[in-house]
Amino acid sequence: MKPAYEKPVIRKLQTGVMNKFGRSPAYARKIRSDIDGVAIDDLVEKFGSPLFVYSERVIRQKHRQVHTAFSTRYPNVIFGWSYKTNYLNAICSLMHQQGSIAEVVSEMEYDKARALGVPGEKIIFNGPHKSPAALEKAAREGAMINIDQMDEIYDLEKVSAKLGRPLNIGMRINLDCGIYPQWSRFGFNLESGQALEAAKRIKSGGKLILNGLHCHIGTFIVDASAYGRQVEKMAAFGYEIEKAFSFSIEYLDIGGGFPSRSRLRGIYLPPEVALPSIDEYAEAVTHALAKALRPGDFPKLILESGRALIDEAGWLVTTVLSAKRLPDGTRAYVADAGVNLLFTANWYKFNIELDRETGGINEQSVIYGPLCMNIDVVDEAVLLPPLTRGTRLVISPIGAYNHTQSMQFINVRPASVLIGERGEVDLIREAEDLTDITRREKVPSRFAQPKPK
Ligand SMILES: Cc1ncc(COP(=O)(O)O)c(C=O)c1O
Repeated sequence: MKPAYEKPVIRKLQTGVMNKFGRSPAYARKIRSDIDGVAIDDLVEKFGSPLFVYSERVIRQKHRQVHTAFSTRYPNVIFGWSYKTNYLNAICSLMHQQGSIAEVVSEMEYDKARALGVPGEKIIFNGPHKSPAALEKAAREGAMINIDQMDEIYDLEKVSAKLGRPLNIGMRINLDCGIYPQWSRFGFNLESGQALEAAKRIKSGGKLILNGLHCHIGTFIVDASAYGRQVEKMAAFGYEIEKAFSFSIEYLDIGGGFPSRSRLRGIYLPPEVALPSIDEYAEAVTHALAKALRPGDFPKLILESGRALIDEAGWLVTTVLSAKRLPDGTRAYVADAGVNLLFTANWYKFNIELDRETGGINEQSVIYGPLCMNIDVVDEAVLLPPLTRGTRLVISPIGAYNHTQSMQFINVRPASVLIGERGEVDLIREAEDLTDITRREKVPSRFAQPKPK
């Protein structure tokens, strides 16, 4: 094929970021022609580009690894799959098959879990807003409801009166364990006495039974010891309210937040070096439990790990649509996926692999998405050899928070596939088309276009 003509530009030659070998780092040219043995070409030919691809093998392996790290150190461990991290039905079903219950933060997510066959008592209902109707449904079905604020106490007292029975509830708290900025907008603050006040109010109402504590200190927490401090404070508070109000705390839900092996923008070291291992997190949590709990007391330890279980099991395959030079000479590419599908591009520097060997000198390049928006940048400085139209970029890890936050903005959403452990490829969500955009729209009749004669 004759290469397309490109007007020459004069630029200072950059062979890559300086390192002691004076060459581009090896990762700049990683080639990936398959995912779990299935050729990228075949995937795109069959399901189109862009394409979300998930690996069942990696999901099961991550789940086993994180679960084992905790369950070998503590006898009473439960995992709640954080739906918002990725709520594709196939992914949730796989997580449930691995033994996770559901952790949801809205009525929509609650209904999604129920529609997948998860019984109410295997759903943890979190979140800053739960409507009275949603609370009533969840209470009737025996869900574990973690209250976020006072209004939910009043609403649940009404539900209790309506059902004519006391209701078990958990309380979300926020606390200082050395992670800043503190996620203090969720739940009741511990250090200010707000959480204790709320427990007192629950007791005096006489309708609710506080039987659990919940606390999620944030996401992508790189300091494992913070979990130790969190758990110690939670256990101590549990005993304090047991003593003060005779509540018996049956579970400590420590939320999620363990990082995936992705590279946060601004962190120089690669994730393998910068991040603690999952065993270090498990050690910090269970060591603190051993110190803080009374001998023989083993409340349920609930984990709502999201990104650590799914992020590395997801790739987005995208295709280079065109190459251009910016006025300053920077090489730029337009790909068929942008921030409409990669919400986390704001925070993470993805691995960007090529589906084929390409010659030429690496240049610092920009990858734009297809949106007619200036902010649609997948990576503004990635070392790439000259790429031809049609080259596929395989972007990872993207399994967490990208599909759930993907937008029907300017383009519809593409298909998602799951590669099974025997190399089978299942379509788990069809590509959308225009009907998905317009299905619920209505045009007042006076604006209707005249029918062509
Ligand atoms: C209440 C709650 N639980 C669990 C999670 C999952 O967090 P992560 O994906 O960081 O593990 C979140 C995410 O912010 C959350 O808000």
